[in-house]
Amino acid sequence: MVTNLDRKTTIPITEIEQSAFCQTDDDLSSRTLQDEFEVGVRWQKLPISYMRMSPEQIEANIRVAREKLADRALILGHHYQRDEVIQFADIRGDSFKLSQFAAERNDVEFIIFCGVHFMAETADILSTPSQRVILPNLAAGCSMADMAQTDDVLDCWDDLTDALGEGCVIPVTYMNSTAEIKSLCGKNGGIVCTSSNASATFDWSYSKGEKVLFLPDQHLGRNTAAKMGMRLDEMILWNPFKPLGGNTLEDIKNAKLILWEGHCSVHTRFTVNQINEARVKYPDVNVVVHPECTLEVVTAADSVGSTEHIKNVIEQAAPGTTWAVGTEISLVNRIASENPDKTVFCLDSVVCPCSTMYRIHPAYVSWVLDGLVEGVVVNQIKVDDDIRRYSKLALERMLSVV
Ligand code: 13P
Ligand code: SF4
Repeated sequence: MVTNLDRKTTIPITEIEQSAFCQTDDDLSSRTLQDEFEVGVRWQKLPISYMRMSPEQIEANIRVAREKLADRALILGHHYQRDEVIQFADIRGDSFKLSQFAAERNDVEFIIFCGVHFMAETADILSTPSQRVILPNLAAGCSMADMAQTDDVLDCWDDLTDALGEGCVIPVTYMNSTAEIKSLCGKNGGIVCTSSNASATFDWSYSKGEKVLFLPDQHLGRNTAAKMGMRLDEMILWNPFKPLGGNTLEDIKNAKLILWEGHCSVHTRFTVNQINEARVKYPDVNVVVHPECTLEVVTAADSVGSTEHIKNVIEQAAPGTTWAVGTEISLVNRIASENPDKTVFCLDSVVCPCSTMYRIHPAYVSWVLDGLVEGVVVNQIKVDDDIRRYSKLALERMLSVV
């Protein structure tokens, strides 16, 4: 049995920064990068000329570079990106949709991924070897992905294999994890999932093994299993800083689902109280939330799904309807402005963007595009060949079951 008592509990740096941009005023317009650095964040440094450029100059600069690159480049934008960035995206989407595009668009030389690190890694794994994937700011990570470190997951996997034998547990990782974790799953008969296909990947996994280890988001794992009818007492939590994850051998043997103790700091801010208040204020309100919210919040909501689901369900709703949304604020604000015939608001009155998605300031986009125009590839994301092999297998399993 491996113990990791001597390892210190560490809070991912991305988690510490999470509140840096929380405010009660909902003006999230981009300022110069130099001004944004003043809240004390530690983002990638870039040439001072880009730091000082006004938002208007940056926008004009990006337009020029984009035109010069024409169809050599494809810009993918996750729904949580700032308006000043998403306006340049050729394709917007949730993690699943963007990964499909990365796998299909073999015709472009450069994929500029306006999202976070694990998404750019996935695009690199699914694209062809001659394509280059670029992440405009290398510091754009994900605090949830940081909660599943490879050594800790390997320790957990060894403990589970010692306790249960080989082949009993199928490892399933949420897209929000490093390529190394995806590779570990692929190598051990497992699969990747996103918020839009978690149920299908659970069905696949339980047809192959008796138990599932779900990484790294306990909430998506719990919500998906509960929807399938699994009882809470059939699930255990795995705390990587405790021996056997804080469980007894008996607990492990009896569990059907082992949930890694990770979470998203943006989505765990939503509460049942906020939903109750919204229902009092707007008796006809529809509540739609992301499955990274807690089970209590998901149970109290009317609809649950990925960022693409949230956007679509509101777009397709009747004019005059009211929507309270439990997801990241940049997306909620955009849905509100694109649906002026409906009332759309965020469940949380404090405005907290995802601090890591927010790290893609338009100055970084301008910098990497200018580099490409001049023949210089900056911030390429390249996954090692040995990691690529099995992470690709786990991703291809996902793409084939949905
Ligand atoms: P989606 O796949 O729903 O876009 O979610 C990604 C994410 O990071 C949500 O926090
Ligand atoms: Fe990660 Fe949460 Fe941000 Fe999504 S919203 S990228 S899970 S920190």
